[in-house]
Amino acid sequence: MEEKRENWGSKFGFIMAAAGSAVGLGNIWRFPYLAGTNGGSAFIIIYLGCVFTIGLSIMTAEFAVGRKSGLSAVGAYMSVSKNWTFAGVLGVLSGFLIMGFYPVVGGWATAYMFKSVTGLLKDASAVGDAFGAFISNPVQPLIWMGLYMVLNIIIVARGISSGIELASKVLMPALYVMLFIIIVRSVTLPGAGAGLAFLFKPDFSMVTGKTFLAALGQAFFSLSLGMGCMITYGSYLKKDQNLPNNAAIVVSMDTSVALLAGIAIFPAVFAFGLDPGAGPGLVFVSVPLVFAHMGAVGPILSFIFFTALMVAALTSSVSLLEVVVAYLIDQRKMKRVNAVIITSVIMIIMCVFASLSLGVMADKPIPILGVGAFDLFDILTDKIFLAIGGLLLAVFIGFVMKKEDLKKELTNEGTIKFGAFELWYNFTKFVAPVLIAIIAISGIISMKDKVALMLFGVGIIVVSALFSKKFK
Ligand code: PFF
Repeated sequence: MEEKRENWGSKFGFIMAAAGSAVGLGNIWRFPYLAGTNGGSAFIIIYLGCVFTIGLSIMTAEFAVGRKSGLSAVGAYMSVSKNWTFAGVLGVLSGFLIMGFYPVVGGWATAYMFKSVTGLLKDASAVGDAFGAFISNPVQPLIWMGLYMVLNIIIVARGISSGIELASKVLMPALYVMLFIIIVRSVTLPGAGAGLAFLFKPDFSMVTGKTFLAALGQAFFSLSLGMGCMITYGSYLKKDQNLPNNAAIVVSMDTSVALLAGIAIFPAVFAFGLDPGAGPGLVFVSVPLVFAHMGAVGPILSFIFFTALMVAALTSSVSLLEVVVAYLIDQRKMKRVNAVIITSVIMIIMCVFASLSLGVMADKPIPILGVGAFDLFDILTDKIFLAIGGLLLAVFIGFVMKKEDLKKELTNEGTIKFGAFELWYNFTKFVAPVLIAIIAISGIISMKDKVALMLFGVGIIVVSALFSKKFK
């Protein structure tokens, strides 16, 4: 017997869940280090440009496609055109790829919550080495990752309204409160102004083609776009919800958290004379170093910061899990619990490889591709899959779906106003695909040192397109 498909319980619950998906490691871990290594404010301006044009239009499109079909990514595409099944399949694959490394970092954040109050900060000079030693340890990060995965599994197994929605309604407001506490301390440090200038005074001398790719890739990753996540979340929305409005709220919330994370981190980093361009280690090395210099409040603030990071990551990784789980429920008619177990097992196996690739397997990169599993999953999604997913969705909206159907969906059958419909439609149809293609192709070309990796990524896409006929 088929079970009735679930819905979000309330508008607030949906917004918290969708913003929970968007706000994650991308905002608090990735955004600050990308800004730090790409020239600060100039990167931020380009990033904001990508978010409020391409990001907003694709998010609106994903909500529309999801709610119209009432199905997760694969079914949503398939219900309009069987030839487009592959675009949904690609989304599910991207979900797996991100899930192959995301919980590893989620596990680090969980570990750092506890390390913050158990002596990590006692000796500031050892903080950097401690991180290197921790992530390359063959066992420790796996245990924390396992713990983090258990939380994911519990939430997703409980379903939409009493699992994901409930968790997000509690955790998202808590995240804002925690960030504000850190910000108050950070911006009141002597010398904090230099950090704010770094964030908000544009210096375009560091902008290159790569900056645009980094900004666009980050926009897709941060807004959870290009892999059917927002299609899936949209599919649980009731018909009376205002989609363009919800998209604007979610995009704004995501952007606000990225900026708040920057305001929490950079003033403190500058105040203590640390390097803003420290890269992926920024949050796990520079930030604890800052707290180590703060005396008695250091461990408490550090605990709050890493709890915020863990909470942000959790509400995102449950959405990644949900993309695959929803596919198995909708298309394969599986029970939710079974779908969660199967998906989690595959994800845990991928994550074990990703975690070990930073430690015991660090000197054994995957032959020919030249990178370890962690970097493989990260680069493939960030540089290829999400952008191609977004591009396909834009083309699908513009050239496969009927304009009339979209208009009906976005205006709730004409009962609400969406004044910018024509603008949205034409931008999504004509401008977004071209912009995404230019930025993505130039990005792929700029990865000259990773030709095999790029070919591998494109190969997966072609193979999944060929095999997608088998998906039902
Ligand atoms: N948006 C999440 C973040 O910024 O951390 C990552 C993510 C979640 C990407 C879900 C894609 C997705 F479908």
